[in-house]
Amino acid sequence: MTTLHTLYLVSVWLHILAAMTWIGGMLFLVLVVVPWLRRGDRATAAAFLRDTGTRFRDVGWTCFGVILATGTFNLWVRGVRIADLARPSWRASPFGKAVLWKLAVFALVLVVSAYHDFVIGPRATAALRDAPGSVAAERLRRRASWLGRLDAVLALILVALAVILVRGWPW
Ligand code: HEM
Repeated sequence: MTTLHTLYLVSVWLHILAAMTWIGGMLFLVLVVVPWLRRGDRATAAAFLRDTGTRFRDVGWTCFGVILATGTFNLWVRGVRIADLARPSWRASPFGKAVLWKLAVFALVLVVSAYHDFVIGPRATAALRDAPGSVAAERLRRRASWLGRLDAVLALILVALAVILVRGWPW
């Protein structure tokens, strides 16, 4: 067993762990926490979402950093080099297509997460704290929820693309 192979195994392990932490946390928020909070009073919900949302934001972006570093190393071990991205034959290959789709969806996740975590999310929790029940607070809360759901759907697409990248397209 070479050192590089050991590093590669550790990298794939860290990659999957980081993906699990981000996706597991997000699905728990979307499927368990938010529906439960919706039954309680708005002020408690706003405080809870602000505190846990901020903490999960830090966990999520740490996961993104680990995913990007280990994903890049995984690609490198699999022989992918920057020059490949410029080669039409590689881009048209089943593996090349899987990598490019995965990177494109990951870039979209970064944009949606940044908009949710650093713009709409903080605005929504501030509005829910300062003017609970107002039209503005309700609109921001709904927008934050839909961005969270969009991220959850994109995460499921990313895992499907990850399996395709390793095992090939189903068609
Ligand atoms: C949130 C984003 C991501 C998620 C949820 C994710 C998830 C996964 C999962 C679950 C696997 C294991 C698949 C399997 O063994 O069937 C995997 C493998 C892989 N991922 Fe990602 N990934 C993400 C982003 C990335 C990025 C940005 C890159 C490249 C920079 C990348 C490159 C890879 C590579 C190369 C493998 C294959 C590892 C191997 O050689 O077995 N991933 N990913």
